[in-house]
Amino acid sequence: MLFTIFGATGDLTTKKLIPALYNLYFEEQMPRNFMVICIGRRSYPEDTFVKEVFSKLDGHFENWDMFKTHLHYFEMDFSNPEDYSGFSDFVEALPIQNYGEKIFYLATAPRFFPIIAKALIDHQLIERDDLREKIVFEKPFGENLESAKAYNKLLLEAIDESQVYRIDHYLGKEMLQNILMVRFANKIFENIWNDENIESVKIYALESETVKQRGGYYDSSGALKDMVQNHLFQTLALVAMEPPRGLNDRLVKDEKVRALDRIRVCDEIVYGQYSGYLDEKDIPSNSKTETFVGLKVFVDSPRWKETPFYLVTGKKMGQKRAGIVITFKNASCFFEKGQPQKNKLTIEIFPREGIVLQFNGKAPGLQAYTMPMKMDYCHMCNVIGNSPEAYEKLISDVIHDDASLFTRWDEIESAWRTVDQLVRDKKNEPLTIYENENEILEVLFSKWKERLFD
Ligand code: BG6
Repeated sequence: MLFTIFGATGDLTTKKLIPALYNLYFEEQMPRNFMVICIGRRSYPEDTFVKEVFSKLDGHFENWDMFKTHLHYFEMDFSNPEDYSGFSDFVEALPIQNYGEKIFYLATAPRFFPIIAKALIDHQLIERDDLREKIVFEKPFGENLESAKAYNKLLLEAIDESQVYRIDHYLGKEMLQNILMVRFANKIFENIWNDENIESVKIYALESETVKQRGGYYDSSGALKDMVQNHLFQTLALVAMEPPRGLNDRLVKDEKVRALDRIRVCDEIVYGQYSGYLDEKDIPSNSKTETFVGLKVFVDSPRWKETPFYLVTGKKMGQKRAGIVITFKNASCFFEKGQPQKNKLTIEIFPREGIVLQFNGKAPGLQAYTMPMKMDYCHMCNVIGNSPEAYEKLISDVIHDDASLFTRWDEIESAWRTVDQLVRDKKNEPLTIYENENEILEVLFSKWKERLFD
C-alpha cells in the first residue's frame, strides 16, 4: 500500500496520522508492503524530516526505528499542477505491484482539494473504478455549499463515489459509534427517545488548546466550519435520527440526512473569540472569526418538536472535554424530600469514554429522602491498552474499503446549507471576547437560562 499524505508538514500528520499508521503497523493491521509518502513544500533531506516527525510525536513509539523505514518525504508544491509529473515519475519508479493499494490523504486546507484531486486524476495516479485507488478528504469538505458542490462534481466526473472518502474523525470515535447501539439495541430507550420525555440534548466539544500554528486555515474557517458543520452536526444526527429500517450503511445515512435537513436554528446564538486570538500567527489584526460558538437548534420532526439541542464548541477553554448530555423531564410523581434530580444519560466522549445514567433512589437512612444515583459504565476500562483512536479505525476502514463511518455527499450538502445560513447571519451577531471558559459560559447561560454543566 502506498499511503500519500498531502500537507504532511501540518499538525495533523504528527498528532494523528503517523501515530495511527504506527499503531496499525504494530497491530499487524497494515498490508505487508507499505510505504508512507509525506508530501511537503519545504526542502528537507529525508532523514531530517523523519527526525522532525519523531520529535513532535506525543506518546511512546518504542519501535520507531522499524516503522520509520516505511516513511518517505517527497518535496513538491502540491498547489502547482506542474509539480505532479515529478511525483508521478517517483511513483512510477516504485515496484508498484508490491504495493497494490494507493491511498491519497488530503490533509490540506479545503481550497487545495480540487487542485490536488484534478492533478492526481490528470496524471492517472488515480483512475476511475480502480477500487484500490482512493482519495481521503479531511474535513471540512469545501468552504461552503457552493465550493463543496464544485469539488464534488469535479471528483465524480473523474472517479467513482466508492473511491472517495470524506472523513469526519468524530465518526471514528468509539463513543460516537456507540450511539446507535445504545439507541437501537435497548428496549429501555426505544419509547422514551422523544420530546415527550427528553427535556434537552447538549452536545459539547471544548478544547483547551488555541489555534496554534493553524491560524492560516482556522481564520477562514472558524468554529462553525471547523467543528459545527461536521463533528457536532454528525453527533446530533446520530442522536436525533429516526430508527432506520435496517442497520445498513445506506439506510442509516438516509436517516441522518433527514435529521440534518430538519435542523432549525434559533436566534439564541453566542459567538466568542478568545482574548489573544488576534496575536496568533497568521491571524489578521481585525479578524472577527469565532473561536467559540453556542447554538440552540431544534429538529423539526414530530419526535423532537419541543426539545432544544444545545451545541457548544470552543478553543482555549478550561480543559479538553467532549460529550453528550440527554436530560429527561421530571417524573410525574416527583418526591420533594431530599435531592431529587432529573434523569440524565451522559455519553462521555473525551477524556473519559463512558456512559453514565443518573436516576433517583432512596437515600440510606430512616427518612424517605430521594437522592440521585449513578450507573456508570467505563468504556475505556474494558479495553486492554488504549481504545482505538478514531484515525486508526478510519484509516483501517479505508484500507478495507469500508465507507460506513465516512460522510456521504448528501450529509455534507445538508450540513453546509445550515452552516452557510449561519455564516450569512453571523455578520449581525455580537462577538464576545472571552478570557476564559467561565466567562463565555456565563454569556451562554444569560442567553439560554440553561447551564452547560451543572
Ligand atoms: C478537528 C479540528 O477536526 O478536530 C480541530 O479541525 C480540533 O480544530 C479537532 O482541534 C478536535 O478533535 P479531537 O478529536 O481532538 O476532539
